[in-house]
This record gives sequence, C-alpha cells and structure tokens, in this order.
Amino acid sequence: MIMRKTLNRPVELSPFPTWLQRYREIRRQTLKLVETLGPDDQMVQSMPDASPSKWHLAHTTWFFEEFILAQHFHGYARFDERFSFLFNSYYKRLGKHPHRSIRGTFSRPTLDQVRLYRVYVDDAMEELLLREASAEILRLVELGLNHEQQHQELIVTDIKHAFWSNPLRPSYQPERIRVVASATAAPPLKWYCFDEGIYQIGDDDTSHFAFDNELPRHPTYLSPFRIASRLVTNEEYLEFMADDGYARPELWLSDGWDHVCEHQWTAPLYWEQMDDGWSQYTCGGTVPLDPSEPVCHVSFYEADAFARWAGARLPTESEWEAAARSSRCSTIFANLFENENYHPTPAVHSKSQQQSMQQMLGDVWEWTSSPYSAYPGYRPPAGAEGEYNGKFMCNQLVLRGGSCVTPRSHIRESYRNFFLPQKRWQFSGIRLANDSN
Ligand code: AVJ
Ligand code: FE
Repeated sequence: MIMRKTLNRPVELSPFPTWLQRYREIRRQTLKLVETLGPDDQMVQSMPDASPSKWHLAHTTWFFEEFILAQHFHGYARFDERFSFLFNSYYKRLGKHPHRSIRGTFSRPTLDQVRLYRVYVDDAMEELLLREASAEILRLVELGLNHEQQHQELIVTDIKHAFWSNPLRPSYQPERIRVVASATAAPPLKWYCFDEGIYQIGDDDTSHFAFDNELPRHPTYLSPFRIASRLVTNEEYLEFMADDGYARPELWLSDGWDHVCEHQWTAPLYWEQMDDGWSQYTCGGTVPLDPSEPVCHVSFYEADAFARWAGARLPTESEWEAAARSSRCSTIFANLFENENYHPTPAVHSKSQQQSMQQMLGDVWEWTSSPYSAYPGYRPPAGAEGEYNGKFMCNQLVLRGGSCVTPRSHIRESYRNFFLPQKRWQFSGIRLANDSN
C-alpha cells in the first residue's frame, strides 16, 4: 500500500493504476521495436538461436496468458487454444512445444492475428489489474514484465542478426548511421584493486524485483584482485588480431581452439575486412570500425583468449559484482536500451583525477569466467515457473552488467545473464581482471 501524506490526513493511493501503467508502458515499448518492420521482416529466423520478431510478440503474450490469465482469471477463454502449444518456448510442465529451430516456419498465424492476440490478452490483463490483483498475481505480472523486457533485448539482437544475414544488409535504424569515428582514443586503462575478504553476493533488496537465480544473497570469499576501469576497445582487440591471436593455440582453451578452427573465426561477429580497413555491421548499417568503442559480439572463448594474450584474465562473477557494488555504479549515464543507440559507445575522459569504473552497466554484457550454477541455498520456484532459469544451470557462462539493448529498469548489480561459451550474437564484450600482487 502506498501512503502519501497530503494536507493533514494520509491518502491511500491504489497501487493498481501504477501496475496498469507499467504494464501498458512495457507492452507498448515492445510494439515500438517492430514499428519499422514489415510482416516479411518479422518472420525471419536467421539461425536456430534467434527467433522471428513475430514469435517474440506472440511468446511474450503467451507468458501472460499461460502464467496469469489461464490460472487466475476466472472464466478466461484463451484467444486460440493452439497457441498454448505453439508459443510455449521450453516449459515442459505446460506440455509439448515446437522445436526452437522451426519458429521461422510460423507464417500462420499471420502478423495481424498475432497483433489481435496481443490486444485480446492486454484487454484481459487490464481488466484483471483493475479489479482484483492479489499479491500473487502482481508477483507474476512483475515476472511477466521482466520477461517481456528480456525479449525486447532479444528482438533487437535477433533482428540485427536477421538483417545482417540478408545479403542486402538492410539497416534496422536507418536514421542512426554513424560514419564518423570518435575523434579521441579511449581513456587509458586503469586497475582498481580490491582487498581479500568476504563479500556479499546476490540480491537481498526486497523493494525491487530480482530473478530467482540472483538469490539468495550469500557471503563469498574473494582473494585480492584487480579489475579494469573500462571495457576492452576495438583498438586493443585489433592488436590481439595483429599479433596472430586467432592463429595461436596456446592462447585458447581447447574447446575454443576447436571452435576457431572449425568455424574459421578471424574476427568478432559482424566485422568485415574492407580495402581500407575493418568495418562493422551495426543496427544502423555497416560503418567503419571505431577503434575507441568497446569490442562487441565476441564469444566467451574469444574474451578468454584475449585476456590471456593481454596477460590478464576474465573476472569471476563475484569479483564483478563486488566491484560494481563498491563503485556504486548508476544507470543514469549508462548506455542502455532507452538511449536507442543499440550499439556500445566509447568510455569517456573524465576531468576529475578520481575517475571511477566505467561502463559497468550498459554497453556490452561482460563475460565472466563463472559457470552459471545455483547459489548456495537456491531453490527454483514451484511449478512451471521453476523452469524459467534453474534448469539451464549447466554448461553456460555468466555475463554481467547489461548491454546497450537492455532496458534501464531491468539491470542490477546482481543480474545474471547466461549463454553458451561459443555464442556471440548477443552484445557481449570484455572487461579484464587479474590477481593482485
Ligand atoms: C537469460 C537471455 C538467457 O534468452 O532464454 C527469455 C531470457 N528467459 N525467456 C533466454 C529468457 C525466458 C534468457 N536469457
Ligand atoms: Fe521467454
């Protein structure tokens, strides 16, 4: 209950309008992302990992229908019974679902039908939020909205890959073409040292949402370490490439080296060698590579090999979180989704001597060396909701900090993203760490 003192007596404000506003705002934001996309664009699935925009629009709607309306809205009739199966991503406890790799075959339902599905579910959700919203329903609405925000990031990430796969290389943001490289080099890299000790890792603040995998907060012992003041730049990454980084097995983990050989990797994803140097495909089309921007679209293997070449290592996720908390990094000046760059930006030169850590939040997801696994005391939620995060705690690596396509209200110091080590279509980059000596 929100109490606000006005005049001389407390006035009770219903929390419902707030929830309704948040619901409408986040749902509207998703539609804004596809405003410039036609029905053809929205059907493309350029690889099994990426999903068509149309599928994202339907699946996020499905989440509200299955987890909230079907369970908690008395007398609710589904928009189309078949969608229960069709737009289920991976929840085995809710029944069968199509294989992820065939989402690009869903020419039916049409985009118009998917849009009607959204309107139908939105109408029911708004009715639910206006009349009876138990704490349990609101908890699920919060989860549904955070889920939708994850898919907003995926919509941009996946359409970038879809457009890049098209030989015409169309631009998702034609009005955002950057042709001028930054005039100044990135600020010199500094190291911030942290003492050995017990650090509290994980979320403990009940005033905001957190995913189950960020819990519980637990003490973690860290040896003394240091962490870089900014992200690794394209310029630094080019030095690694020029030093034969992709051709020296001693720099690579065994799995990484096998991957480099098999896929003949010689540069990050979306890089292209032109007559006059490297260019890079962005959401604003193909542009010359800006040396001072953070390197982006690298796999864990590449991040790890670069760190070894640089005489450093990747941070563990606990080191990353301890550093982020101590530097009290804020999202205010961070390069996030709302900035609409959809591309990382260079670290800035600060005039003050006491420069603090930069780019911790936003720009690119930072690979850590930590396996994505359960924190001590972790319990997945009961029921199908328990499949959201917990069952993926095997063979993936944790990434921290959010990217230039992560919504501002969605990222926190404790946030754990996770992907397989060879994946690089996400906006993923590198921050170095090392042992302190
Ligand atoms: C946390 C980004 C790995 O892409 O599967 C979307 C996000 N979870 N729907 C994913 C997610 C459920 C998840 N990642
Ligand atoms: Fe999902």
